[in-house]
Amino acid sequence: GWLLFGGSMVVVFVLGLCVSALMERRAELASVFNNRKTVIEGIEARNEVFKSDFPREYQTWTETAKTDFQSEFNGNVAVDVLEQRPEMVVLWAGYAFSKDYSTPRGHMHAIEDITATLRTGAPATATDGPQPSTCWTCKSPDVPRMMEAIGVDAFYNNKWGALGDEIVNPIGCADCHEPENMNLHISRPALIEAFERQGKDITKATPQEMRSLVCAQCHVEYYFKGDGKYLTFPWDKGFTVEDMDAYYDEAGFYDYIHKLSRTPILKAQHPDFEIAQMGIHGQRGVSCADCHMPYKSEGGVKFSDHHIQSPLAMIDRTCQTCHRESEETLRNNVYERQRKANE
Ligand code: HEC
Ligand code: HEC
Ligand code: HEC
Ligand code: HEC
Repeated sequence: GWLLFGGSMVVVFVLGLCVSALMERRAELASVFNNRKTVIEGIEARNEVFKSDFPREYQTWTETAKTDFQSEFNGNVAVDVLEQRPEMVVLWAGYAFSKDYSTPRGHMHAIEDITATLRTGAPATATDGPQPSTCWTCKSPDVPRMMEAIGVDAFYNNKWGALGDEIVNPIGCADCHEPENMNLHISRPALIEAFERQGKDITKATPQEMRSLVCAQCHVEYYFKGDGKYLTFPWDKGFTVEDMDAYYDEAGFYDYIHKLSRTPILKAQHPDFEIAQMGIHGQRGVSCADCHMPYKSEGGVKFSDHHIQSPLAMIDRTCQTCHRESEETLRNNVYERQRKANE
């Protein structure tokens, strides 16, 4: 009996600690928000405007510019994939990726990299670039700003070069947050519309789901639908490779006709969100932010690290918040899987 009594007291005490930690975090956040000095209305695309009110988030966000990390397979430096794997030039014959393809790096480089790639094929100021303006969609908070200004259809149905003077701020605050109150929010219509076609209302998503859905605005498979080049996610039948393949077959869509074999080919872009759903972490509700934006403490203030990068650069704050294994074991868990996939 005493053992049971003692046990319950311990449980009650621990629960109390958890609640008080939660309240403290709420109070901390409330004080940050109540002390905002800059009043922001509408879609504010200029990231610097957020700096004075949210210095820690802003500072860590700027660190996505860094090019100093390398793991066995990935890093934050752009690597020329075509030089590494020249066979891809043949596989992509007749497709813009055969001209130029580099590995991704941090969000701060998004505008710079899309402007420099040979795929977009023309300087940003020329109005006759061969790609549609839809290519800008994943690069900048100027995108929702311009969509509001000129309309979504007009945004997509344009030349890539036509919007070059407007789209200047790299991926930032207004891509993931509603600037007025800093709630996480979906700024891109394609994700909202894909959910609607699946009969789901994205505004009903839980806070934990939102910690992945903000990333799913861009880190997904997509295609440009019809003559209006309307950005569309092929998810009507589900998230698996087979589901998307069936969708494309029904729509009669292919990305390109191969120059040598004349075969219509589909090339998945970057289905990071879809693939994450299939893994054990996705199935247990672990979010993108849990691994890519861990909490960080500074001067007694806990905040989300906005230096989005490889979780292997900070295993102590990512994997080890949930797993007790050593850094080496956890790193090897990742490498074992990557080696197999690469092979
Ligand atoms: C790629 C998406 C993304 C971008 C870009 C982004 N944030 Fe966040 N932000 C998040 C996520 C995810 C959280 C965690 C929210 C949660 O758990 O409720 C967050 C949390 C916050 C919070 C709440 C306090 C905290 O640290 O957890 C503030 C304030 C904030 N961000 C400010 C900013 C500012 C300022 C910028 C631009 C410099 C920015 N964010 C850019 C995704 C983003
Ligand atoms: C508005 C579109 C957009 C959103 C939203 C977005 N990303 Fe990205 N992300 C990109 C683009 C574009 C790149 C490649 C930039 C480059 O190479 O210039 C990228 C690159 C990355 C990289 C590679 C960084 C490196 O160091 O190699 C990671 C990791 C990443 N994103 C994770 C996330 C996570 C996690 C979220 C959500 C919290 C997110 N992204 C939200 C568009 C986006
Ligand atoms: C359980 C932890 C975990 C979760 C959850 C997770 N990731 Fe990752 N992510 C990783 C690891 C580990 C790597 C490989 C890093 C390396 O090789 O250096 C990675 C790599 C990436 C990369 C490639 C970076 C590059 O340099 O090429 C992107 C982009 C990315 N993740 C986006 C996402 C998105 C979007 C989500 C949510 C849908 C997500 N991740 C969820 C652990 C995670
Ligand atoms: C927010 C918590 C969380 C984080 C962060 C996290 N994991 Fe996990 N991990 C889990 C959960 C939950 C499971 C599923 C365990 C179960 O249900 O049995 C899991 C399972 C695993 C497994 C077993 C996989 C399998 O196929 O059974 C490995 C390996 C693993 N995680 C490695 C990592 C690595 C490496 C990182 C960092 C890049 C990481 N985890 C980050 C929560 C997390």
